[in-house]
Amino acid sequence: MAKKTATAISHPNIALIKYWGNLDHGFRIPANSSLSMTLGGLETRTTVSFDPDLDRDEFELDDHKAEPLAFDRVVSHLDKIRAIAGIQIRASVQSHNSFPAGTGIASSASGFSALTIAACAAANLSLPPKQLSIIARQGSGSAARSILGGFVELYSGPTSDDSYAVQVAPPEHWDLLDLIAVISSTHKEKGSSYGHDIAHTSPLQAARVEDTPRRMDVCRSAILEGDFPALAQIVELDSNMMHAVMQTSTPPLIYLDPASIDLMKKIEIWRHEGLQVCYTLDAGPNVHCICTRSSAPEVLNRLREITQVLHIYESKPGEGAVLR
Ligand code: PMV
Repeated sequence: MAKKTATAISHPNIALIKYWGNLDHGFRIPANSSLSMTLGGLETRTTVSFDPDLDRDEFELDDHKAEPLAFDRVVSHLDKIRAIAGIQIRASVQSHNSFPAGTGIASSASGFSALTIAACAAANLSLPPKQLSIIARQGSGSAARSILGGFVELYSGPTSDDSYAVQVAPPEHWDLLDLIAVISSTHKEKGSSYGHDIAHTSPLQAARVEDTPRRMDVCRSAILEGDFPALAQIVELDSNMMHAVMQTSTPPLIYLDPASIDLMKKIEIWRHEGLQVCYTLDAGPNVHCICTRSSAPEVLNRLREITQVLHIYESKPGEGAVLR
């Protein structure tokens, strides 16, 4: 095979119903189904070149040689794609994020989604979205959802082939915004892979997983019907349930900062004052403020007045991953 290069762009996503814990860690089969909004405006751009002249894989993230752990994870993802394509050629991978990695804005989601799309194209594999999402999921569970745009559901197990993403509604279905209040942009100490591994140690995890089909139904209906009050209630409950599991794992995982909690309380008050806004937080302290277009200007004004909010990213429902 001659040298072949492909570039893909993918957006991160914010889980409205979260995945936490795995049924199978090797294949990253999630313990529960999840539902997300793909985040337009934020992106990872990844170029993969399979090059017969290379004797080992190379991976640069934001123009720096990747750390060993990140490097190994990318190599093992490339190995999966090489096995499907029946090739052994080494690759060089260059990846750029338009937002800080590892801070609760899911850079692993857009990262492994873009890597999957670019590497499959560079390996001459033409696969449907279902297969691409199954491959992306094995790099990072949430990456399966970033393959698709708009509002996206990721089924959980029981086997790897049953755990793939589907679109619930396209980006234009609902003009929601995610105003991401950055409380901290330092890299988190414990990543989500570690958290998934210990999720089962929380006595609350089994109840969270068991209740997931109900939360999925409520969230899916709220999205399809454009019912913001119903969405707000289920999204905040789901985020709090996941953080309760994190905090009651052994050892406890606490991602929230005091400023995150202050903002969560403020958002609840703002909603009672009539603004259509709710909060959700992934594995980090940053607060995703999900709001309607009409409430967004006032939410933005209020966020700008909070000194602990270092930066605000504005994102609307985005498209799925594409080749460039
Ligand atoms: O895809 P991972 O392994 O980074 O896990 C994602 C975990 C959460 O972002 C906290 C929840 C989710 O469903 O995206």
